Amino acid sequence: MVEIYTAAVDKGLEGVVACTTAVSSIMDVTLCYRGYTVEDLAENSHFEETAFLLWNDKLPTATELESFKSEISESMSLDPQLIEVIKKIPAKDVHPMAWLRTAVSLLAHFDSEAQDNSVEANRRKATRLLARMGTLITAFESLRQGREPLSPVKGKSLAWNFLYMLTGKEPDAEMVKVFDICLVLHADHELNCSAFATRVTASSLSDMHSAIVSAIGALKGPLHGGANEQVMLMLKQIGTVEQARRFVKDALANKEKIMGFGHRVYKHGDPRAAILKKMSEKLTNKIGEGHWYEMSSLIDDTVQNEKGLLPNVDFYSATVYYSMGIPIDLYTPIFAASRISGWVAHAFEQYANNRIYRPRGQWVGRQGLKYTQIEQRRG
Ligand code: ACO
Repeated sequence: MVEIYTAAVDKGLEGVVACTTAVSSIMDVTLCYRGYTVEDLAENSHFEETAFLLWNDKLPTATELESFKSEISESMSLDPQLIEVIKKIPAKDVHPMAWLRTAVSLLAHFDSEAQDNSVEANRRKATRLLARMGTLITAFESLRQGREPLSPVKGKSLAWNFLYMLTGKEPDAEMVKVFDICLVLHADHELNCSAFATRVTASSLSDMHSAIVSAIGALKGPLHGGANEQVMLMLKQIGTVEQARRFVKDALANKEKIMGFGHRVYKHGDPRAAILKKMSEKLTNKIGEGHWYEMSSLIDDTVQNEKGLLPNVDFYSATVYYSMGIPIDLYTPIFAASRISGWVAHAFEQYANNRIYRPRGQWVGRQGLKYTQIEQRRG
């Protein structure tokens, strides 16, 4: 007798509460990290401090922050042997998220603590992972351009170093601030798809690198972090402000999704999108390409009117990154360079209060079949 599990299926686990968490919360239109609103942190904090908050459930003292920043600074460089190996990962016609997934997995092979799942080792590995994401992403960009990857500069922030290693030039202070705010805004988001992937992998008591590689794979998809890249590609495809409304109406009529809109949890707006919208307006005008903002704004109005959907974090971040001159396919890797702070916080929380994730699937296939020999089978 085959057991058939008959509980109601919550497709996509909508509304299912899978764990308790104190990392970040979404209540109506308010997103908080460890109790602080994202608006407050975007205005007053910076990425390293926000990561400390996520990992330690408190804002750091000046001494704690200096010590955390110096640990990050000391960990940003890549082992020369690792650089030789990553040079061999095919980069031509490979999506940077696929490359990053492989490169982060390789970090484990060069980490003597890779298999040590103690709290202390996990903290040290997490710091190394956080510190090296930007170094890896910019190394990918250098390698595909046929240049040697640049080394990070000690004593400078993750945001500063990302822009420096990407371009080879000392970044403008205003752009560093903009980029840092983007990192803060993307740092965590409750039990999103990639945080859940982190926790599922961690729940088997697998190691930190494996949990983060799972998360990168989940973030890569266009329904999650991959949407920011798709937004910019869509804007470029539309081409002019005049075409925007028609494009949206046609897409919706064809039941196509407009990237950067809709959300499983927010039904009255994503607070991060509101902040990014202002940044997009300012920055696109600053580079003399305000039409990208105008087009985005028109799409925003049209999707709201036609479908009642609001923009999510990915919609206006696309034009913010575009205005900074960042290659379009690096938008999702940048998301990963920020979200790693949240993934790690979720892994810590999962390890500290673990039970393996093991839901059930409701059987809808055939039953009771009898094996037939190959010569007796018909096509
Ligand atoms: N464009 C057009 N229609 C949409 C969109 C969209 N962006 N999003 C949802 N809908 C429609 C669906 O077609 C569906 O309509 P129907 O009821 O007429 O069939 C309804 O709204 C419900 O949508 P679902 O896809 O079931 O919503 P779900 O909660 O499963 O998915 C998601 C949420 C994945 C964010 C979805 O809104 C989407 O695909 N958006 C576009 C991709 C995107 O921007 N992803 C980034 C999300 S934020 C993040 O992960 C960082």
